[in-house]
Amino acid sequence: MIKSTGFLDDVVYRNGMLILSGWVLGTEESHLLGFDCTLNSLSLANYKEQLNCHLPSPDLISKYSSHSQGERARFNCEFSIPAKLFKHTGLIRLTPYFNNGIGQSLYKILKYDIPLPPEDLILAIGGGFDNVSMEFLDYYIHLGHLKPEHRVLDIGCGIGRMAYALSYYLDKKSKFEGFDVVDDLISWPTNNITPRSPNFRFKKVDLYNKWYNPQGLLKTESFKFPYPARSFDLISLCSVFTHLLPIHMEHYLDEISRVLDEGCVVCTAFLLDKESRKNMKKNRNGLQLTHPYGECFIKNPDVPEETIGYPRDLFIKLAQLHGFDIESIHLGSWCGRNDYLSYQDIVVLKKRSKLKSNNTRSKSAIFWNKLFSK
Ligand SMILES: C[S@@+](CC[C@H](N)C(=O)[O-])C[C@H]1O[C@@H](n2cnc3c(N)ncnc32)[C@H](O)[C@@H]1O
Repeated sequence: MIKSTGFLDDVVYRNGMLILSGWVLGTEESHLLGFDCTLNSLSLANYKEQLNCHLPSPDLISKYSSHSQGERARFNCEFSIPAKLFKHTGLIRLTPYFNNGIGQSLYKILKYDIPLPPEDLILAIGGGFDNVSMEFLDYYIHLGHLKPEHRVLDIGCGIGRMAYALSYYLDKKSKFEGFDVVDDLISWPTNNITPRSPNFRFKKVDLYNKWYNPQGLLKTESFKFPYPARSFDLISLCSVFTHLLPIHMEHYLDEISRVLDEGCVVCTAFLLDKESRKNMKKNRNGLQLTHPYGECFIKNPDVPEETIGYPRDLFIKLAQLHGFDIESIHLGSWCGRNDYLSYQDIVVLKKRSKLKSNNTRSKSAIFWNKLFSK
């Protein structure tokens, strides 16, 4: 496989034609030859295809100014499929092939058949739903190495925004577990996603969080995840460490390490370093994490859990102390950065092998003693 990037912007079925449009870029030496396309697991190779590629892409010029093909990366691709043979919903996978190899697949859901949650629920988790769901499905696959048969845990799953697109990607042998601390949020995916995909389950846990669940009776720092050891292949925390204090994050890292088998954690955070602090100063109307809170920085001194930023070095150190290696970090636009992947920073963690982690765990106590005796 060669290094490539791209996005499938739009997929529609009209008058017997499945029409896909987007953009794709391979390496400097790549020349796009065509695509392999599947709808669910049905290959569309037998259907007549018409491809227009290397179309102008004025919207990509600034982002890919250093790529010689950044100006002509758009495509549209049409498959002629008789309506009676066509499934009107499902996951489209489009895999580009270039003269120098196969590129990374692009994914899109063709017409969701699960309704969208009401607007007030979407606002309660920060806004944005199906587009964010699709965006993160792409990260799980490409950054977290997710496969259709994998077992996924979504911590702080809210209204099932991550589950929504995942329910089209994960197969029947897989499982998805989500838990959250707010009743009103968790009941939406329980009533709307589980009936369509019974292997998707959601749980409410009454944990205290000053912002999300101030009446909560249980303590996050002693909550044992209700799953056996090594029972997941991918664990997601989308916009959750941004609401957890360090003591909670540390405990969650231990529990994650226990329930994760081989596999990755895909999590988001607001990471503070020289560049993000400088950007926050320039971008005064954006998110401001300026109030110190222990080693962290918060937006609202009255309710620290509303939004928490971690110094980048501290975040990395905590992950390492609790048995993880950093697989990759993808900085976000939240502080007004021009070059970014998503809104929040995305961190991909990989569980370290047991031998190495025993060594590091014994150093953890020394690190904290030092930090708090300052
Ligand atoms: C910004 S929302 C993100 C929801 C979801 N991950 C998504 O991206 O759609 C943050 C979520 O974290 C949940 N949360 C807060 N404290 C938690 C805790 N201690 N354990 C698990 N979830 C928690 C909140 O209830 C809320 O649903």
